Amino acid sequence: ALYGASRANSKGLDLQMRAAVQTELASRASGAGFEAFCLGTPHGSWAPTPKAPVLSPNDGTQVGTVQWATKQDVAMAIETAHAAWPYWEARPVTERADMLRRAADALEAQMPAYLHLLAIEAGKTYADGVAEVREAVDFLRYYAHQAEHLMAPDHLPGPTGETNVLTARGRGVWVCISPWNFPLAIFAGQVAAALVTGNSVIAKPAEQTPLVAHAFVKLMYEAGVPQDALYCLPGAGEVGAALTQHPLTAGVAFTGSTQVAKLIAATLATKPGPLAPLIAETGGINAMIVDSTALPEQVIDAVVMSAFRSAGQRCSALRVLCVQDDIADELIAGIGGALEVLRMGHPADAATDVGPIIDREALERLQNYERELSSRGKAVGGAPKLPDGALAAGHFFAPVAYELPSLADVKEEVFGPVLHIVRYKAKALDALMDQINALGYGLTLGVQTRITARAEAIARKLRVGNVYVNRSMIGAVVGVQPFGGQGLSGTGPKAGGPHYLTRFVTEQTVTINT
Ligand code: NAD
Ligand code: ALA
Repeated sequence: ALYGASRANSKGLDLQMRAAVQTELASRASGAGFEAFCLGTPHGSWAPTPKAPVLSPNDGTQVGTVQWATKQDVAMAIETAHAAWPYWEARPVTERADMLRRAADALEAQMPAYLHLLAIEAGKTYADGVAEVREAVDFLRYYAHQAEHLMAPDHLPGPTGETNVLTARGRGVWVCISPWNFPLAIFAGQVAAALVTGNSVIAKPAEQTPLVAHAFVKLMYEAGVPQDALYCLPGAGEVGAALTQHPLTAGVAFTGSTQVAKLIAATLATKPGPLAPLIAETGGINAMIVDSTALPEQVIDAVVMSAFRSAGQRCSALRVLCVQDDIADELIAGIGGALEVLRMGHPADAATDVGPIIDREALERLQNYERELSSRGKAVGGAPKLPDGALAAGHFFAPVAYELPSLADVKEEVFGPVLHIVRYKAKALDALMDQINALGYGLTLGVQTRITARAEAIARKLRVGNVYVNRSMIGAVVGVQPFGGQGLSGTGPKAGGPHYLTRFVTEQTVTINT
């Protein structure tokens, strides 16, 4: 059973889990013991590099150390992974799938430890951490199941005296590059999909979150994945670039910014070696359209959840709320009120709604953006209070909402808790939808209306990957809401969907004249 799909009995589990995380936090008060370095079986040894501190976004304390991969490490890992690939690919898919299932069981059993690590390294609140571990577990189980179906030989009809068998096979060395905002779920999803389909894998976690990736790769080894089939190379963009340029790279799964996705696509188009497919999952300027029939309380809940949960650091997050002018005053006042009572704080505090921004650079980007936005928009409500005391050194940014004259005033994806609000007139709905399509992104869309036919018409017209009607627009569930966008938001196929694994394989037809 998938975790995300069966949330009904999660309350008891949550209470037990909260207690376990508090114990974990208390027992690791200094937290400085975590490490990340290159993992995998190289022919030689990894280049010796100094240990750099990993600092928590919550309060700036050191939570571990990282040794960054070098260019020599990249070459060594890809060559070893390439040599190991035929052996890994030759193993029955059921064996590989069982490794994923064992990893899922282990991850579930170790949930408190991962919640703790997600809180201190990535600033994930308790609720976000639980959802993330569950998503990672779901990816492991779902892709195990899907791979067994996809990779079963397909005996096709043919003339008498001839057999025709179609099989799906791994492509070679697959590179997985992930972002910091889902350092476990997206990292685990990419790795699981590539491995189970018979590719050897080099994973490069985001530079902000190497520790949780390191822990997960070790867990995969314990679940039976051989060390020459799975590598983890901590590093910044240059390590990712070196991996994508390598002639032995046979495919890339990338989640991150549109800008980097385009760079990778250009690199793959010209690099020597096989024609390598790219799965890119990127950002969005996601809108929610609210008409005058919508239920105000439901809208306010959905807006707060979609725009400010995870401090707005989700690709799926709501960026532009479009409200029909007849109900705009009431709704905007309600959103302002809800904003003021949001609680910011340490993510491991169960009462925290909004945790920190991932790093100082991202925080400064948001502060600069807000300064500029405040000169052309009208602030909605008052910002919640920033935490003080021990958290003063953390990267906190109070969620904000600004009303703007039109959608044309929103020009970029702002990756944080910043909500833009625009009003529209009922007769201008079509024009508004044209404007949303013209942004070129196409990830998520929220619709709030009591008129189902209108919701369906909006969903048909807007070119986006995931449409959510009368609910929040974040938190896609694996196997239930396959996730991913179009246009500037990604190439597809959708993560957690029935077609995702097909991009990781190549097909072979064997015809035998008996
Ligand atoms: P980013 O593009 O800066 O970095 C993502 C990853 O790419 C990191 O591991 C980084 O080291 C690596 N990288 C950077 N330059 C590279 C290069 N030249 N070659 C290869 N790899 C390189 O993105 P970010 O700031 O870490 O993440 C935020 C972005 O990710 C947002 O735009 C967000 O919308 C998007 N995102 C999308 C999804 C999705 O599923 N669609 C999910 C999460 C985040
Ligand atoms: N899959 C994540 C969500 O739906 C990004 O919020």
